[in-house]
Amino acid sequence: MCENKKTFYITTPIYYPSAKLHIGHAYCTTIADAVARFKRLAGYDVFFLTGSDEHGQKLQRTAESQGLKPIEYIDKIVAGFKELWQRLEISNDDFIRTSEPRHHKVVQEIFRRIQEKGDIYKGEYTGLYCTPCESYWTELQLDENGCCPDCHRPVEKVSEEAYFFKMSKYADAVLKHIEDNPDFLEPKSRRNEMINFIKQGLEDLCISRTSFDWGIPVPGDEKHVIYVWFDALTNYLTPIGFLDDEKKFAKFWPADLHLVGKEIVRFHTIIWGCILMALGIELPKKVYGHGWLIIEGDKMSKSKGNVVDPMLLIDEFGADAIRYFLLREITLGQDGNFNRDALITRINSDLANDLGNLLHRTLNMIGKFQKGILYPATEGTELDQSFRAEAIETAKEYRRMMEEMQISDAVKIVWKFIGRSNKYIDETMPWKLAKDENSAQELSNVLYNLAESLRIVGILISPFMPATAKKIHEQLKISAPFEEIKLEDAETFGKIEVNHEVGKPEQLFPRIEVK
Ligand code: MSP
Repeated sequence: MCENKKTFYITTPIYYPSAKLHIGHAYCTTIADAVARFKRLAGYDVFFLTGSDEHGQKLQRTAESQGLKPIEYIDKIVAGFKELWQRLEISNDDFIRTSEPRHHKVVQEIFRRIQEKGDIYKGEYTGLYCTPCESYWTELQLDENGCCPDCHRPVEKVSEEAYFFKMSKYADAVLKHIEDNPDFLEPKSRRNEMINFIKQGLEDLCISRTSFDWGIPVPGDEKHVIYVWFDALTNYLTPIGFLDDEKKFAKFWPADLHLVGKEIVRFHTIIWGCILMALGIELPKKVYGHGWLIIEGDKMSKSKGNVVDPMLLIDEFGADAIRYFLLREITLGQDGNFNRDALITRINSDLANDLGNLLHRTLNMIGKFQKGILYPATEGTELDQSFRAEAIETAKEYRRMMEEMQISDAVKIVWKFIGRSNKYIDETMPWKLAKDENSAQELSNVLYNLAESLRIVGILISPFMPATAKKIHEQLKISAPFEEIKLEDAETFGKIEVNHEVGKPEQLFPRIEVK
């Protein structure tokens, strides 16, 4: 049975350890985590990969400027990445470092295979190189000041013996792949950008350097190191058994989703597409280019001094509040603003007020009016019935939205239902029903429906806010283990057993006092 389980392989980019990770990096990883958790909830066998991209001249220079060997410098930074992902409750199944032997083996083997095929050749490279971005540019691609079109810093003219990858040979095939497979590259706007990019003509790609040695050597010609992007992209093949576990590789490849920022879509569709075609390996099913988190209209970066440290935010507000904000506030695919005031407003209104109060009021009333016991419920009034129907509809709509990567819409629809539940309390007024003996059944119905709605909400928010979902599960004292809950459980109303005893309410989110 296990063998037939649907699989889902999702990756984030592997991050450069050149600086501390900021909230923009956390954004990308949080989205990937929410998708991975959703897929697990929906019954998929998920493999979720993240990691670090550790080679290149820039890292070597930075390490040396601090009197360190590259690996000594990088080890410390990567330890910080891992700590951040742990504190943010990122559920990755593996963390790949490109400095690891398992990765070197794969990169060199891929180089060898493509070279053997005749698609890698030696030549002379003269070009314009942006060291911070590890990218080569042509004269035409430079910005109006003759600088890197991505980071707008000066480029260097480089001339050296180098290996080239025959990208031009695969340009038409990659173009056709993008055109024929509308799901391959999303959102649509990025598709058009890439199509235009290829149509301008693809040159062969220089894939080795001799001016530094912090990288993976070209097999058989060790004074060359392999270009960082050629090295980095292949990370996606390594942990799923590319060279050492055929069965595992067949199970997870092609990847279902490479989630990446919009500026690196080009590498993930065109360069990666060409490499895979040269290897005769299927292309990933989807590359999704998300937008950037910006601060007052500007991309976050160390040089601009507008970096927001996610660790400090987690210390102050907790991981779930940060995750909620990132997933709710920014429509996937578009740029979005990060703003501390907006974060605090969301915590106070959506988390402390809407969700926190719903749980608190409900458990409090069950405790006060029914000694914590959920008595048998009947079909109830029309209002009760429509409330229950809305719960199920919410769960179904949520599933559809999450499948289609409409993550912020999925968050919003759950909060709409939370709002509906609070209104249901105001409409049914359980405190009044509790005063009238003749309304005992009505009261049991309302309290049961509220407990059920919270059980469902807890399941639906588990990909967004895993710790909060677990607290709801525990306060409701649901008997099934939290880890075994499935999405189907949210699509059926009435799963809490009759005469079940719920727990005492505990605050989920304290209100943040604004000074
Ligand atoms: N090392 C390469 C990726 C290689 S993947 C084979 C790289 N690293 S990075 O650290 O510079 O960026 C990693 C990811 O973080 C990218 O997808 C990038 O878009 C994302 N972000 C960096 N700053 C960001 C924001 N301000 N907002 C959202 N995402 C941002 O590129």
